[in-house]
Amino acid sequence: MASTLRNRLLAGLIERCPALFLRLKGLARHPLATDREFLRLHARLVRDGEGMQLLSERYNLWATARRAAGQPGAFAEFGVYRGGSARILGAAKGGADLHLFDTFEGMPAVNPATDGAFRAGDFADGSLGQVQAYLAGIPGVFYHPGFFPASAAEIGRSPLRFRFVHLDVDLYQSTLAGLEFFYPRLLPGGLLVAHDYGDPTVPGVRRAFDEYMRGRPERMVAIGGTQVLFEKQGA
Ligand SMILES: C[S@@+](CC[C@H](N)C(=O)[O-])C[C@H]1O[C@@H](n2cnc3c(N)ncnc32)[C@H](O)[C@@H]1O
Repeated sequence: MASTLRNRLLAGLIERCPALFLRLKGLARHPLATDREFLRLHARLVRDGEGMQLLSERYNLWATARRAAGQPGAFAEFGVYRGGSARILGAAKGGADLHLFDTFEGMPAVNPATDGAFRAGDFADGSLGQVQAYLAGIPGVFYHPGFFPASAAEIGRSPLRFRFVHLDVDLYQSTLAGLEFFYPRLLPGGLLVAHDYGDPTVPGVRRAFDEYMRGRPERMVAIGGTQVLFEKQGA
C-alpha cells in the first residue's frame, strides 16, 4: 500500500520519540515499550502502510515467534495477504525456514452461513509478486500460492515439521483446514497462534478452533487483542 504522509510522520514519531508514542497509546508500561527491535519493525510496517493487526497483536506475534526461534522446525503462515504479518515472522524467525500459504489473489469461495460478512475476492489487492518483492531481503522464505489445502499437498507428503504456525484466514473452512494440516505436523512444544478468535465479526475462526480442539490436550490461551495460542503437547 502507498506510504502516505500520515504513515511517514507516525513512523518518524515511533522511531524518534518512542516514549511519547507509547504514552499516547497508553502502552508506556507494556513489555513492547522496552523492545527497540520490535519498535523499529513496527515503524517500518507503519511507514509501508502494511499489516492488518493491532500494535499489541503484532507484538504478541513477534514475541511468540521469537520464543520459537532457534529451535528445530520450520515456521509457517497461512493467510499472508500483502505480507505484513509475514514480515514480522521473517524478522523473528532467525535461521528457520518460513513457508507462506495464500491464494495471493484474495479470498476463495465464502460460506455466508459460517463466515459473517466476508466475500470471495476480499483481500485481492495483493499478489504473489508484490509479497515476494516486499519480503525480498529475508532469507529462507518459501511460497505456496493457490487454494489451501491443495497448495500444501507437496509439503504434506514431505517430512517437514513446524515449530511455529500463524493462522490468519478469517473463514471457517480455511481455519479448519489449517488446523487439520498443521496440528499433526507441529512439533511438541511448537506454538500455533491465530488471529481473530475473539472477534465476533469473524465467527468462523472461533467455531473451527472450538470444534477441532475439543477433546485435545492443549489448552487454548486467549492473548491480547483477538488472538489465541496453544502449545503442542507431547514428548
Ligand atoms: C486477513 S488476510 C491475512 C492478513 C495477514 N495475515 C496480515 O496480517 O497482513 C486473510 C488471507 O487469507 C487468505 N485465504 C483464506 N482462505 C484461504 C484458502 N483456503 N487458501 C488460500 N488462501 C486463503 C486470503 O487470500 C487472504 O489473503
